[in-house]
This record gives sequence, structure tokens and C-alpha cells, in this order.
Amino acid sequence: MAFRAFALTFVSLIRLSLAGTTSTAIQLNETEYSILLANDVISFGLLKTTSAIQNLTYQNVSLLGTVDGLTGQAYTDFPSNTFTTSGNSSYEIITGQDWAGVIFTDNDTLGSTVQRLWFLHASEPGVHSFVRLAYYNDTVTSKGELGESRTMFRPNGGPWTHIITNSEQWAPLPGAAAVAEEVVVQDATWYLGLTPDDPYGLTFTLQESDYFTKYQFADNQTNKAHGLFGYSPDNVTTLGAWWVVNQKDTFFGGPLHGDLMVDGIIYNKQSTNHGGATNPNITNGFDRTFGPQFLYFNHGNQSTTLQELLADAEQFADPSWNAKFYDEIAPYVRGYAPSSVRGTFQATVTVPEGALNPVAVLSANGVEFQAATLAANFTAYQYWAPVEEDGSVSIPRVKEGWYRLTVIATGIFGEYSQDNIIVSAGKVTSVSAAWIAQSAGKELWRIGIPDKTAGEFRNGFERDLTHPNHPAKYRIYWGAWDYPTQFPNGVNFTVGLSNESVDWNYVHWSRFGPTYIRNETVTNVNQWQINFELEEAPSANSIATFTMQLAGVETTAGNTDVASGSNPTVPILTYVNDQSQPLNWTILAYQSSSCGERSAISCHLLHNELEFSGSWLGEGWNKFLVSALFLSSTYYVQYDALRLELIETSSK
Ligand SMILES: *[C@@H]1O[C@H](CO)[C@@H](O)[C@H](O)[C@H]1NC(C)=O
Ligand SMILES: *[C@@H]1O[C@H](CO)[C@@H](O)[C@H](O)[C@H]1NC(C)=O
Ligand SMILES: *[C@@H]1O[C@H](CO)[C@@H](O)[C@H](O)[C@H]1NC(C)=O
Ligand SMILES: *[C@@H]1O[C@H](CO)[C@@H](O)[C@H](O)[C@H]1NC(C)=O
Ligand SMILES: *[C@@H]1O[C@H](CO)[C@@H](O)[C@H](O)[C@H]1NC(C)=O
Ligand SMILES: *[C@@H]1O[C@H](CO)[C@@H](O)[C@H](O)[C@H]1NC(C)=O
Ligand SMILES: *[C@@H]1O[C@H](CO)[C@@H](O)[C@H](O)[C@H]1NC(C)=O
Ligand SMILES: *[C@@H]1O[C@H](CO)[C@@H](O)[C@H](O)[C@H]1NC(C)=O
Ligand SMILES: *[C@@H]1O[C@H](CO)[C@@H](O)[C@H](O)[C@H]1NC(C)=O
Ligand SMILES: *[C@@H]1O[C@H](CO)[C@@H](O)[C@H](O)[C@H]1NC(C)=O
Ligand SMILES: *[C@@H]1O[C@H](CO)[C@@H](O)[C@H](O)[C@H]1NC(C)=O
Ligand SMILES: *[C@@H]1O[C@H](CO)[C@@H](O)[C@H](O)[C@H]1NC(C)=O
Repeated sequence: MAFRAFALTFVSLIRLSLAGTTSTAIQLNETEYSILLANDVISFGLLKTTSAIQNLTYQNVSLLGTVDGLTGQAYTDFPSNTFTTSGNSSYEIITGQDWAGVIFTDNDTLGSTVQRLWFLHASEPGVHSFVRLAYYNDTVTSKGELGESRTMFRPNGGPWTHIITNSEQWAPLPGAAAVAEEVVVQDATWYLGLTPDDPYGLTFTLQESDYFTKYQFADNQTNKAHGLFGYSPDNVTTLGAWWVVNQKDTFFGGPLHGDLMVDGIIYNKQSTNHGGATNPNITNGFDRTFGPQFLYFNHGNQSTTLQELLADAEQFADPSWNAKFYDEIAPYVRGYAPSSVRGTFQATVTVPEGALNPVAVLSANGVEFQAATLAANFTAYQYWAPVEEDGSVSIPRVKEGWYRLTVIATGIFGEYSQDNIIVSAGKVTSVSAAWIAQSAGKELWRIGIPDKTAGEFRNGFERDLTHPNHPAKYRIYWGAWDYPTQFPNGVNFTVGLSNESVDWNYVHWSRFGPTYIRNETVTNVNQWQINFELEEAPSANSIATFTMQLAGVETTAGNTDVASGSNPTVPILTYVNDQSQPLNWTILAYQSSSCGERSAISCHLLHNELEFSGSWLGEGWNKFLVSALFLSSTYYVQYDALRLELIETSSK
């Protein structure tokens, strides 16, 4: 893809103050505290002590505003504190024909290395970034989990009026008056309804929701670009700032991994344990380079919409974009995999009848793609692509190595997986895969669509029609949808009569509240009933299988993966008719993920097949009571889909 929209209008050739190197179009000046970089469209300074970008100017507008504390900057940090940010021990300026870059290195005395790299290329209105993390220590061989690593564009004011997750999810930034009067309802979540007046046309509260949370603007790794939109001070130009997710292969967790995108800050999250993903264990020899990602700026005239600027940014979300440039700087970017170590993956896949939108995922060998990192292979990269109508899959530019292929599809329980797929540099790897859908006999019924989300249920993908943006309801603070009012006795669902988008909630709460609109905790809505009718009684030797696929469960372990809080391990109990012993699925601490409470609809996916004697079922009406226990702390379950199957083992 060529960079057409912003072609060079003039080229200045400046001899740099560095011995023997020249750079076309890029200006680079060094002062005592800063390294200043500019091309003909943007300019910024890099603070030597921290590597942060400051004073970024595009279209003669200061896009980050002035520095105040950490705001007014673009920078990388590690809130989980696994890596130090003690200050840079060194920096190196490197230049080429039409680019310049700075590599900041931060070594601590414990064996850790952090490198933050920024590059400016030709006349592009944007900055390329990489982050390298390494740990070499053979006496203390582990320094724990990485947790979060993120690079942020964090303006202090600036021209910004709107936050944009993707083409569907965007909103005005809450105005100053709303923020001044906000009421905290949960961590990072506020009620703004006390102040309906904001400066920009339709306000946040009128247009999007009475609640604001950063989680509302999260997305999964299918995201192509996300960012901010606004107007120049003279109001003749519209402006956009975007993290373009041009390469995803150094991230973790696969396509379903969701995380924050933008909330006023624009995030590039290299690693987190949010939304069902795991993060790597930092052990001796850990060495990983994340990126590149591209921080991109664009503009239009007064009538250019934020969707138009977003679409312009999204065109660069293609791993082959700028590959030549990345190959050119690869010798300086330790750990970046240039084209010479990449090959092509191809597959022919047959999927079960009824499979919709099948997707093929390549990830760490031997483990599920969501769990790919904790399970020890932090060198693994990840890729995915749709399976085309004719069954073909093609993924170019795959880093050489061993992979697991997983195929998932909407409508099909379970998944297909195949290990030991070897991709070699410069070669085409061809694989064929035949996915036979799992089956435990005749399907008696199913509830929900197996699609790795709880979106099809009430308050899920359902739109909030009371606000013009019509946001998906799951994105809004959960307390807005008063579950005890909607389901006074919990869910009571009758197969064949009930409607899953009305009669089944997106979250099964063990207890509910308090919320902004409800002061007390409600405890009698935790037992859900499923009613179904059978024409005849299953035979005495028959085997029934109740398959539960979950889009997420949160226990008091939250996202930590370790036993924390009062109830890190919780049961989901299913009582079949009058049987006194329930089917008991105990969710373990590492399976917990913060999901619905953080406005998510797909987190740590879980699958279980619970077998019982078909003789527990009878002719006519049968019932299941599915129970999340009332314990000292709330836990909740988000179903993906459920089904009941039966194998008749003797003839009637
Ligand atoms: C570098 O210094 C020159 C000469 O003072 C100046 O014209 C130019 O604007 C500076 N460039 C940057 C990026 O600060
Ligand atoms: C940004 O501008 C401020 C104010 O002029 C200055 O103090 C600061 O050093 C600049 N930052 C960089 C990285 O050049
Ligand atoms: C750029 O902005 C400054 C003030 O922020 C103004 O003085 C100057 O005239 C502007 N330059 C152009 C070319 O618009
Ligand atoms: C930082 O540590 C790495 C080893 O992890 C070493 O190769 C490099 O030279 C160190 N850099 C500085 C500036 O100390
Ligand atoms: C390894 O870690 C220990 C403690 O964290 C530290 O004392 C030691 O110096 C480290 N070794 C190296 C080679 O960095
Ligand atoms: C991933 O995100 C896209 C865009 O927001 C959405 O359409 C899709 O349903 C999401 N998939 C899952 C499994 O959450
Ligand atoms: C900017 O211009 C647009 C289009 O003319 C207008 O609707 C809007 O109110 C103006 N905004 C400001 C802050 O002047
Ligand atoms: C991380 O690695 C260390 C050392 O190999 C090991 O003791 C620890 O259990 C690992 N942690 C996880 C969460 O896998
Ligand atoms: C991790 O993955 C890499 C790349 O696929 C492979 O070469 C290596 O053998 C794997 N290591 C382990 C411990 O499985
Ligand atoms: C649940 O639905 C069944 C079938 O309609 C009905 O017989 C039963 O009374 C309902 N239970 C409650 C608590 O509403
Ligand atoms: C909750 O309790 C507070 C303090 O008693 C009271 O002011 C508020 O009106 C109550 N809210 C609701 C929704 O009942
Ligand atoms: C469910 O299983 C867990 C773990 O084995 C056990 O602690 C719990 O007592 C069981 N609950 C019931 C009701 O059987």
C-alpha cells in the first residue's frame, strides 16, 4: 500500500550533525535534554531521560498539548512494575536515507533490559514504535509475570473532541462540566447524568450513555485502528490521531483478546492479562520485541467525518504495509523478524455444516491460543485469517517456527486444532484440515449461538435505543440494566417458547448490586431454570451430555490467575429434575476473567461436557436448575451456548 494521501510537496536535504550519515526529508537536532525530529509534516521532541515524545506538532496544531506530569506525552510504561523505568542508561540515534530513529535502553541491575524505539520515516505523518523487553539472570531465574506493557498517546487537552474504538463505537469526550460533577460507581466508571450539558453539539450523556467507563471503548484484537478526533483551533481542519494496529503478531491472546483502546488516552497494549488473555512469565532468557505499531495523524476539511479519518487510518493496518522500511531498520531493532525469516501459511479446511465465519488461528504450539503465553513459550507469534468460501486460508509473512492451527466458527460447539505445524522462512507451508464437529449423540436442544460471546442474550449486543449512538448494551456499565427488575426470579427459560435475546440475560449473577440505581444487594435471582419437553423417556442405559460453553466467569480472582479474595474457586451447579446431586463444574482461579463488570462480552472461554444417566430425564416436561451460589462475594457467569445431547445405548 503506498502512502499517497500525504505525498511529499518538498524535500529538504539536511546534513545531520552525526558523523557521515545523511537523511532525506528528516531533520534531527540534538540538545542537552532532547532529540528533536521533524519531517515536512510533523515534528516532536524525545526527552532523553525518559524517551517520551513531547511537543508534537501536526498541521501547526499541538496534538499532545503541554506537558503536565505524565500528560502531554506519548510514552511506554509497565504498571505491573515487573520492568523498571529507572531512567535510560543510554540512547542511540540511527539514521538512513529517508528515516531516523532513536533507541533508548534502560538496563537495571537485576538483569532486565527495556528498549523503547521511535522512528520517523520519509514524509509520513506518524511515528513507528517498538518495545523490547529482555531478562537475563541465571541465578534468579524468574521475575514473575509481565502483566501490563503499554505505549500511550496521552494528550493534555489538545484539539480532541471524540474518542473512537472502531467504526461502530465512538462518542464525544465527556465535557469538563460532566467530569466535574461525575459520581464514581465502580473503578474507572462514572455516572455523568447530573450534567447533561457539554460543549460539543450532542453531549456524551445525551448521545452515548449516562455512564462513562474506559471499558466501554475496549475492543478485541481484530481492531485495525483506534484514536481521537477533533478540530483545529481555527475550526477549519478536522484532525485524527490513531494507533494503527498494523502488526499483531507480537501480541498475545489471539483475535478474541479484548482490552482498552481509548478513553482520552490512546492505548497500544503489548501485553495484559485482561479479557481472557494470559501474559508471559518472565524467566531467564526472555527476550521479546513488540511491534511495530504506527502512531498516525491525519486531517480533513471541516466536513470530514471521524469515520472518514478512521477509514484512512485503517488502510495501514496491513502487515505488509511498509515491510521494506521495517526490513531496512531491522538490523537496529533487535528481535524484529524481517521478511527474510518469514514464510507463508496455507490451508484447505473443511468445516462442519452450519459453520459461519470460520477463522483459522496460528499460535504457540501445543496450547490453546488464549493460554499461549503462560504455558512457557514466549517466543511464539500469532496470526489469524478467515477461512474462505472454498475452504482456503492464506496467511503471508508468518515468522518461521512451530505452531498450533485452531479453527473456530460461529454456530459450532468446540473447535478444531492441529499441532506441530512448521512454517519455514521463504517457503509455503500447506496444511489440510477436516473439522468434524464434536457430538455426544442426538442434540435435544441448544440455547444460544456458540460464537465465543454472550452477545446474543439480553443486554448483550442488543442496542440501547434510548441514546442516538445506539451503543451495544454490554458496553455500558452493567448496573444500568437492572437485572432484578428485568428478571424478578432469575431466568426461567422454556426451550421452544422462550426467546434467548429477551428471556436469557447476558450475565448470570450470583448476587446483584448495589449499583448507582439500587442500594441493596439482591440475592434471590441466582438460580436459573431451563424447561424442556421430551416426547419419550430416554432408555435406562442412555447417556445424556450437558455441554456448557462459557464466554467468561469472574470469581474473586478477577484477572489475576491466582487464588485471591474470598471465593477464587466457585461452582456452577446444575440440578437435573429431582436429582439431589447436582452436576458440579468448579471454576478454578486461573480460569477467572473480569468480564461483564468491565463491559466485556467475551473473555476467558471455557468448555465442559457434563455427562449423566439419561434415566434422570423423563417423558414430558423436564427441568434444569442452574445455580450460581450466593457466597460472601459476587461471582458471575456469562454463557456462550448450552446444549443437551443423548446417546441411546440400547434399542427400545
Ligand atoms: C534544527 O535546527 C535548525 C537550525 O537551528 C532549525 O532550522 C530546525 O527547525 C531544527 N529542527 C528541529 C526538528 O528542531
Ligand atoms: C517541550 O517544550 C517544552 C517547552 O518549550 C520544553 O521545556 C521541553 O524541553 C520540550 N520537550 C522536548 C522533549 O523537547
Ligand atoms: C501556527 O500557529 C501559531 C500559533 O500557535 C501561529 O502564530 C502561526 O501563525 C501559525 N502558522 C501557520 C503557518 O499557520
Ligand atoms: C543492557 O543490557 C544488555 C544485556 O541484557 C547489554 O547487551 C547492553 O550492553 C546493556 N546496555 C547498557 C547501555 O548497559
Ligand atoms: C539476578 O537477580 C538478583 C536479584 O534480583 C541480583 O542480585 C543479581 O545481580 C542479578 N544478576 C544479574 C546477572 O543481573
Ligand atoms: C471482536 O470485535 C469485533 C469488533 O468490535 C466484534 O464485531 C466481534 O463480535 C468481536 N468478537 C468477539 C468474539 O468478541
Ligand atoms: C466548527 O465548525 C462547524 C462547522 O461549521 C460548526 O458546526 C461548529 O460549531 C464549529 N465549532 C466551533 C468550536 O466553533
Ligand atoms: C514462572 O516461572 C517460574 C520459574 O520457572 C515458575 O516457578 C513459576 O511457577 C512460573 N509461573 C507461572 C505463572 O507459570
Ligand atoms: C517455542 O517456539 C519456538 C518457535 O516456534 C520453537 O522454536 C521452540 O522450540 C519452542 N520452545 C518450546 C520450549 O516449546
Ligand atoms: C418457570 O416456568 C415454568 C414453565 O412455564 C413454570 O411452570 C414455573 O412456574 C415458572 N417458575 C417461576 C418461578 O416462575
Ligand atoms: C441510596 O441511599 C442513599 C443514602 O441513604 C440515598 O440518598 C439514595 O437516594 C438511595 N438511592 C436509591 C436508588 O435508593
Ligand atoms: C462441587 O465441587 C467442589 C470441588 O470438588 C466441592 O468443593 C463442592 O463441595 C461441590 N459442591 C457440591 C454441591 O457438590
